[in-house]
Formats: sequence, C-alpha cells, structure tokens
Amino acid sequence: MQNKESFFDKLFNKPIGFIALSYIIVIVSIVGIGLFFVQNQNALVLNQVPPVINDSLSVIPEIPVQSPRVTSAIDLATLTVPTAAMLEKGKQTFTTVCVTCHGAEGKGDGVAGVALNPKPRNFHAAEGWKNGRKVSEMYKTLQLGIPGSGMPPYDYLSPEERIAVISYVRTFMTPAPADAPADIAQLDAAYKLSQGTQMPGTIPVKGAMAMNISAQSTNTQKITMALNKISALNNDNARLFYHVSSAPELALATVINDPNALTGVDQFRAAVLSGLSRNGFSARFSLLNSAEISQLFTLLKESLG
Ligand code: HEC
Repeated sequence: MQNKESFFDKLFNKPIGFIALSYIIVIVSIVGIGLFFVQNQNALVLNQVPPVINDSLSVIPEIPVQSPRVTSAIDLATLTVPTAAMLEKGKQTFTTVCVTCHGAEGKGDGVAGVALNPKPRNFHAAEGWKNGRKVSEMYKTLQLGIPGSGMPPYDYLSPEERIAVISYVRTFMTPAPADAPADIAQLDAAYKLSQGTQMPGTIPVKGAMAMNISAQSTNTQKITMALNKISALNNDNARLFYHVSSAPELALATVINDPNALTGVDQFRAAVLSGLSRNGFSARFSLLNSAEISQLFTLLKESLG
C-alpha cells in the first residue's frame, strides 16, 4: 500500500512540489490568454463598421427619360404670384432633388452638404447670395448651377418645374425680394419663357449603358448566327467570303457596325475598302470583280439581315 501512494498524496505531502506546479499553471494560462489576445487583436482594435463617406456626386438622382419636347409657354404674370398648385409641385421637386444638400427646412444643412465647401445656401439668410434671391436670379442659378461649387445646373427641369421649385424656395424667405418688371422682361428675353422652351431629350446614364450593352449583344448574336448560316451554306458564295476575310467575325462586325455598308453594293465596297486588312477583310477583297462583290454583298445582307 505504501508504494501505491497516489500522485496527489505525494504532492500534498511535499508542498514545494505543489507550489512548483501552480507556477506552471499560472504561466501556461497567462501565455494562453496572451496568445488568444494577440490572435484576435484585429477584431478588438479595428472598427468593424467602416465610416460612411458622403460622395456629393452620388446624391444627384438619375435624370428621367424624356423625349425632346417644347415645353408649354409660361404665363409671365404667374412668375411672381405662385398658385397653391405650383407651390405643391415645387415642394415635391424640392424634396426629391434639393433636400439632400439644402435640408428639409432649406437651412443648407442637408446630409450631403456637410462635406461641401462652400456650404449649400441657407435660404433663410439674406446675405452671401451669388446670383441672388429674385425669381429671375434663381432661374439663372438653376440653368447654370454655381460654377466652382457643389451647386449643379438643373437645366433638365422644365421651366415650369424650375419656376415651381423657385417659388417654393422663396417661401423660406421673410420677405422674398420682388422682381421688377424689367427683371422679368430680361429673363424672358434670355430664356423665351413666354414662348415655350425647346428641351433636349434626356436619358438616365444607367439606361444608356443598358441600351448600349443590349445593342452590342444583339450585334454579337447576329454575327454568330450569320457565321453559322454562312458555314452551313458551303457554296461558292460562302467560299468567296472565307477567301476574302482574314478574320470572319471581325469582318461581319465591320459590316454590321457601319450603318451604310448594307444599303447598296457600292456603299458596301467603299465601307470594306476604307479599312481593308484592319477590318477582318484581307487584301484579296480588292481583287474581286464587281460580280463577285455583288455576290458577297447579297450573301452578307441575307445572313446579317
Ligand atoms: C449636391 C448638393 C446640392 C444640391 C442637390 C442642390 N444644391 Fe443648391 N447649392 C448647393 C451649394 C453648395 C450652394 C452654394 C454655392 C455657392 O455658395 O457658391 C448652393 C446654392 C444654391 C442657391 C443660391 C445661389 C446663389 O445665388 O448664391 C440656390 C437658389 C440653390 N442652391 C437652389 C437649389 C435648388 C432649387 C436645388 C434643387 C433643384 C438645389 N439647389 C440643389 C448645393 C446643392
């Protein structure tokens, strides 16, 4: 029994061993906790949520799709005496377009204005205006923006929409300075408001990109289909095409991307010759006689059409 003394009995009989063991336990725990801390330091020290940086460009909403149009003539008498309907419309435009910078109350404290220098105008303050607070002066601001500042032009808004939003902005002013008849006459002379304004068509950037991409992919589809057709034909005309094209896909792309190339044999010949040996057609094309060119034209018109 004596020699069956357990490990712990020995330990308790010799306290010095017990103390030695407790040192080891303490050291191992400290090192363990230390390693755990060092390994997870990133999570402890780094800010897990990146700060948001407001990009003043991103707050400008996409402009709408609009066909070119002549806007209805403005009754000059209503310019300075806004109706309730105009103010309501102006408020809508203000909340969708201007609030991000100028703030809901027009105090120049919109979220997107924080980083701008100069700051968006506080519409309640009478000082510091570059163009001015009259209808005619603000119309110019919306037409041209304030160059060198974050105030962009809003020339895509129709004159009616501009007058409406200007009238709404003027409700923040106590009092809003009135336009003299001469100011209105000058405004009308500059922008022909009383005659209706020719507005260009607009399209949102995203829409334009999508249209471009889909136009490209329909062309790619057409080219692939045409190549399949031609190789399936396996007749003289098809052989003629392969004979004069060094890069068949590029050759078809050349024809499809030139708006005139398929309008007639002469146009086709001119279009191909103008970029010969860079456009997928080889120099052999220039040796074709007119009957062969006309055959080739018919083949491509049929397979690409
Ligand atoms: C991207 C931010 C931004 C948006 C959106 C914006 N503005 Fe501004 N606006 C500014 C800044 C910045 C100024 C100050 C320009 C300066 O002091 O040079 C300014 C100034 C103005 C002024 C004063 C011009 C003057 O004579 O000094 C008017 C009026 C104005 N904005 C109207 C509008 C209207 C109306 C809208 C909406 C259709 C609008 N703004 C949208 C940033 C913006």
